[in-house]
Amino acid sequence: MNKINVAIDGPASAGKSTIAKKVAEELGFIYLDTGAMYRTLTYAALAKQVSLEDEEALYRLLRETEITFSAGKEKQHVYLNAADVTEIIRSEDVTQNVSLVSSFAKVRKEMVARQKEIAKSGGVVMDGRDIGTVVLPQAEVKIFMTATAEERALRRYKENVAKGINTSLEELTEDMRRRDHLDSTRAISPLKRADDAIELDSTHLTIDEVVQEILAVITQKN
Ligand code: C5P
Repeated sequence: MNKINVAIDGPASAGKSTIAKKVAEELGFIYLDTGAMYRTLTYAALAKQVSLEDEEALYRLLRETEITFSAGKEKQHVYLNAADVTEIIRSEDVTQNVSLVSSFAKVRKEMVARQKEIAKSGGVVMDGRDIGTVVLPQAEVKIFMTATAEERALRRYKENVAKGINTSLEELTEDMRRRDHLDSTRAISPLKRADDAIELDSTHLTIDEVVQEILAVITQKN
């Protein structure tokens, strides 16, 4: 398998990270969860009480923040400088604020530069919102994953139940719509399907079916 780059974009909870990780495992590629990078900065800003409206302060904080990943047995771990933030960056507080933090040009420019650097030698499966359009416009394979807001909220709801977190399905559906709206209407790098991306609606597909479809596309391109 040639060391191509694979871009996977789509709205929140479309299953991108689970699928991107499996595809990367199958190919022996590196998996990069760019959402986790924006979440880590959001967590750092909340922890240090940096104003989430202050682009310059967020940028300064990002410049002094190292975000790294390590492959764990079950899941990938995310580190803020040396601290393991894998779980805490999925908290409601971070989820509610990450779209605001990721809307600033200076923050995005720095994140995109770091993401490009990781992908420069190829062999990366990267998931996010702007990978096929901005981060890796030359990626050999681009996938745009969708699923209805109701289905995505239901998936989140089931995940929460499994973790013992009590949330209402209605609130999750509303939150999904709110985040979709913010991510797809922001001025800089909005969530958008690249013209040459293949759209994959996962509403009625299992994780393995989606993985197999993507692997088939990758095999065709190689
Ligand atoms: O993928 P995940 O839901 O963890 O991403 C969290 C948030 O980070 C998104 O709602 C979006 O606001 C932001 N994001 C982004 N660009 C990316 C990845 C994530 O703006 N490439």
